[in-house]
Amino acid sequence: MSQAEVLRVEGGRSLTGEITVSGSKNASLAILCAVALTDEVVVLDNVPNISDVDHKLRLLSRFGVKVDKREGSVILDASRLDLYAPQSNDVNKIRTSFYLVGPMVARLGEVRFPTPGGCNIGLRPVDLHLMGLRRMGVEIDHHNDEYIARVDHLRGADIVLDFASAGATQHLMTTAVLAEGETVITNAACEPEIVSLAAFLKSMGANIKGEGTSRIVVQGVKKLNPTNFEIPHDRLQAGTYLLAGAISKGRVKVTGIVPDYQMALIEKLRDTGAEVEEGADWLEVSLKRRPHSVDVTTTPYPGFPTDMQQPLSAYLAIANGTSVIKETIYESRGGHVPELNRMGAMIKHGAAASASSFIIQGVESLSGASVKASDLRAGAALILAGLAADGTTEISGLEFIDRGYERLEERLNSLGAKVERIQPFTPEKV
Ligand code: EPU
Repeated sequence: MSQAEVLRVEGGRSLTGEITVSGSKNASLAILCAVALTDEVVVLDNVPNISDVDHKLRLLSRFGVKVDKREGSVILDASRLDLYAPQSNDVNKIRTSFYLVGPMVARLGEVRFPTPGGCNIGLRPVDLHLMGLRRMGVEIDHHNDEYIARVDHLRGADIVLDFASAGATQHLMTTAVLAEGETVITNAACEPEIVSLAAFLKSMGANIKGEGTSRIVVQGVKKLNPTNFEIPHDRLQAGTYLLAGAISKGRVKVTGIVPDYQMALIEKLRDTGAEVEEGADWLEVSLKRRPHSVDVTTTPYPGFPTDMQQPLSAYLAIANGTSVIKETIYESRGGHVPELNRMGAMIKHGAAASASSFIIQGVESLSGASVKASDLRAGAALILAGLAADGTTEISGLEFIDRGYERLEERLNSLGAKVERIQPFTPEKV
């Protein structure tokens, strides 16, 4: 068996300094699906150089989209879309691929897509996506693990989501842009990535109101214009680096961001005793002593983000006192727990409450160990723990971390960390 790359993190260094983060992964993935709506050229700037984006670009090119990737920018031309039938690997590797169904069916009248599977953080069904598309007149059959979607006449509809799903809101808002008449999405998700997607769609001439609130209204248009759009910053990377400042008892400033997007995290950081300073487009976090424990419940935006739950767990692992985290969005986002415990953390799945409660009894210090990331944010949690731990931590499962963190080692090292990617040893052929 070949050895995989690992990230070696030397613990015990206080991180100090200022950084910026790349463009947002989740905004990019939604916007790249929406590109399929138009036969005009789209230029996207500040696109993050991460594997999820590469994967999505490869899939788009299989659908006949011309993709020209330059330094930080991507030029896309979807004027000649093909009826490509993706394989389950295309959809399982990156679930947002499924959000291409609506735009593809709006352009081509038909598309086939494999059923997306669950992943390491939960089952992640697509029932709300299907319900909304059907309301818009799309006929969807499901045979042999494949959806076949067809539409003669895409029409606006009143859609009420049972749950404020970020993905369903993005997918249905995008599809509604080319539907005839008005679409109203009630109980829509309010995540910043929905606001950026709407800004992108509007830059092409879409008519959308209410994005960022729970009621989005889209008036369909017949044709979209070319556009040049800049992907906004990644709020989840920003949150991770702010936590890196606090967990390492340092002082880290992240610039070029929207501080409002971090409100739930800032509140919790302050509750733990961290100092948080705020400017128009920056936040600075510092902490001198051990954090206090806090209780946290994940909820859709603007509540505490599920994506920060695992990184926050690493921070609370060294808190003074016991913290309880309730994860309400995903049923199994706990892959970081056994690995943090290998580093000396004391975290239990809450038996009394539900499998998605984590009871974190803070310990004075963590110790370096060999650990494995089971998903993207579990990886972020392990890196944070490694920064605070005594000794050296080696983290494998980097394919998950590379999905969403651009130039991670470089950014951390610029703050004074010592993080190194170790290539596997390959014996020379004789
Ligand atoms: N859900 C359903 N039915 C649906 C759609 C969703 O039951 O039709 C459930 C999901 O199974 C999940 C919950 O609703 O339990 C939340 O799903 P949502 O649709 O809101 O999330 P998503 O669009 O699949 C995006 C981000 C996630 C982030 C969530 C919540 C992208 C590519 N992914 O996922 O990001 O956790 O919103 O904010 O935008 C990450 O970046 O690490 C990540 C997982």
